[in-house]
Amino acid sequence: MIELSVNGKAFSFDGDEEMPLLWFIRENAELSGTKYGCGIGQCGACTVHMDGEAVRSCSIPMAEAAGADIKTIKNLADSEKLHFVQRAWIAEDVPQCGYCQSGQIMATIKFLEEFPNPSDEDIDKYHTNICRCGSYDDMRRAIHRAAKLQKQGAAS
Ligand code: FES
Ligand code: FES
Repeated sequence: MIELSVNGKAFSFDGDEEMPLLWFIRENAELSGTKYGCGIGQCGACTVHMDGEAVRSCSIPMAEAAGADIKTIKNLADSEKLHFVQRAWIAEDVPQCGYCQSGQIMATIKFLEEFPNPSDEDIDKYHTNICRCGSYDDMRRAIHRAAKLQKQGAAS
C-alpha cells in the first residue's frame, strides 16, 4: 500500500506501483488541472511539486511517490488571492490554448526559487517546458514580472 499526500490530503494507493504519478493525480485524486502532453518527460505539461521539487509526474512511478508530499496547480491559489506567478501570468496575458500553462506555472515557481533574478538566457536555458502555441515571449515577460513580485515579497 502506497501512502502519499496530494494538496494536503492523505491518499492510499493499492495498485500498480509502476503506474505514473500523473495518472494518480488525474484519475484517483481527480485533479485534472495537471495535464498529459507527451508522457515521456519531455514537455512539462504534467509538472507538479514533489517534496518541494518540480517534477514531471508522467515519469514518476507510484513506487517513487510513496510518502511524498505532492502539490498541484489546484493548490496554488487560496480563496482570496491567486499565487503571484498566476497574477503575473494574467497581467501578461500569457495563455493561448492554455493546455501547457499549469505545468509552465508550476515549473516557474521552482525556477524562480533557483533564479530569483533571471536573465532571458537563464529562462531560455533552464525553463524547459514546451508550449506548442509558442507563448515563449509572453512567458518570458511574465517570468520577469513574477520575479519582481517575488522580490517585493508579494509571494502568497
Ligand atoms: S506529459 Fe509529462 S513531460 Fe510531457
Ligand atoms: S498555450 Fe497552448 S500549448 Fe502552451
